[in-house]
Amino acid sequence: MKIEEVKNDSKELRVASHSHIRGLGLNSDFVAEPVSAGFVGQETAREAASVIVDMIKAKRFAGRAVLFAGAPGTGKTAIAYAISQELGPRVPFCPMVGSEVYSSEIKKTEVLMENFRRAIGLRVKETKEVYEGEVTEISPEETENTTGGYGKSISHVVIGLKTAKGTKQLKLDPSIYESLLREKVSVGDVIYIESNTGSVKRVGRSDSFSTEYDLEADEYVPLPKGDVHKKREVIQDVTLHDLDIANARPQGGQDILSMMGQLMKPKKTEITEKLRGEVNKVVNKYIEQGNAELIPGVLFIDEVHMLDIECFTCLNKLLEQTISPIVIFASNRGVCPIRGASETLAPFGIPLDLMDRLLIVRTAPYTESEIEIILEIRAKTENLVVAKDALAKLARIGADTSVRYAIQLLTPAGVLADINGHDSISIEDLEAAADLFLDSKASSKIVMDPNTKWIN
Ligand SMILES: Nc1ncnc2c1ncn2[C@@H]1O[C@H](COP(=O)(O)OP(=O)(O)O)[C@@H](O)[C@H]1O
Ligand SMILES: [Mg+2]
Repeated sequence: MKIEEVKNDSKELRVASHSHIRGLGLNSDFVAEPVSAGFVGQETAREAASVIVDMIKAKRFAGRAVLFAGAPGTGKTAIAYAISQELGPRVPFCPMVGSEVYSSEIKKTEVLMENFRRAIGLRVKETKEVYEGEVTEISPEETENTTGGYGKSISHVVIGLKTAKGTKQLKLDPSIYESLLREKVSVGDVIYIESNTGSVKRVGRSDSFSTEYDLEADEYVPLPKGDVHKKREVIQDVTLHDLDIANARPQGGQDILSMMGQLMKPKKTEITEKLRGEVNKVVNKYIEQGNAELIPGVLFIDEVHMLDIECFTCLNKLLEQTISPIVIFASNRGVCPIRGASETLAPFGIPLDLMDRLLIVRTAPYTESEIEIILEIRAKTENLVVAKDALAKLARIGADTSVRYAIQLLTPAGVLADINGHDSISIEDLEAAADLFLDSKASSKIVMDPNTKWIN
């Protein structure tokens, strides 16, 4: 099995609208503080979420599912995002939206399967022979290009590495020069090079190069101890999906036709059930030998009512597998038809047999004062100053329409305040923004009005 080439391709969280949320905000007694970590109110749901976090950390919760149910804008997605932050970067968290399963290239069940495997992590421990140290020199040696082209090519690269105990000069293959460039290694960085694969990893900047400025993006690490050439325990966090991809054999031969085929077909379709079985076997062996540890993470399926009956049946099966993440669903629907079984109505559009497996957490609507605090936090993250009376007014608007609309009004109101030359957003700016941009209720009223001549 290839572990070397594994590149983590975890999905980016859509953070923009939740960037003020930094966690669930519980105190040491596991009680949700009314305002903490960017979170306001919704205490019961946050405490429930924290119990889930604990269960995931204790690995007691694999193969179960939770549903966050509540009206739009009550913070379901925000809670899921906070859960992922509480779990930290080492536990996989795979967010998806129900409608993502509808692809023209991959079967719905295949998308689900893939995301399940993205949500299961494996921590692999390996002892490797490495050269480690602070880089003292990088000098690529050039020769005339032997293939007859213009320019020069690199014949080898000389690297100096320094540790607390000594220094060593290495003469390395040009391919390593490429990985040095890729990792953006420069003199003064601490790196290690695996001796049998030649892969380069940049650990950080040596702390003798640290400056007194606080605004530094770099991570400073101490000068490595011991010899330059040594055995080092390398810990890698990968997901089962990463392993599937790394081990999927590139298809086709040398001819043009199959190369075209490769271009047109994304690699995804090559992961077969058989391959997954093989990967699982090797993973189990690693675990038995004590070289790897399984870390079930979270698969978050937002807008779960978008899934159809086939997906739900598949989920039932996937949840019963021995290796399974915890699945968190979110839905804002009441009773609605189950997709693909049009006549059948069900709460949240979820079939009863799956409902039966769920722990359900409700998110309640916010009060006006809670909305005011949320808006205040949000304004701060967006670097906007809002006058006190304007904030109260916006909270009022939020209570009448939705939290989301109120949050969204902040930005245009800020722009208008700028144009009008106010240093803070005033009631006037707010009203102007609300006049320009309608909320959903107001706009649907206009559309429904028979006098407005829409084609219905
Ligand atoms: N309790 C809360 N504290 C702070 N911000 C919140 C809270 N609840 C919701 N928000 C913010 O309000 C907006 C809408 O919430 P969201 O989680 O997207 O709602 P839902 O997924 O339930 O429809 C988001 O920007 C979210 O970050
Ligand atoms: Mg949502």
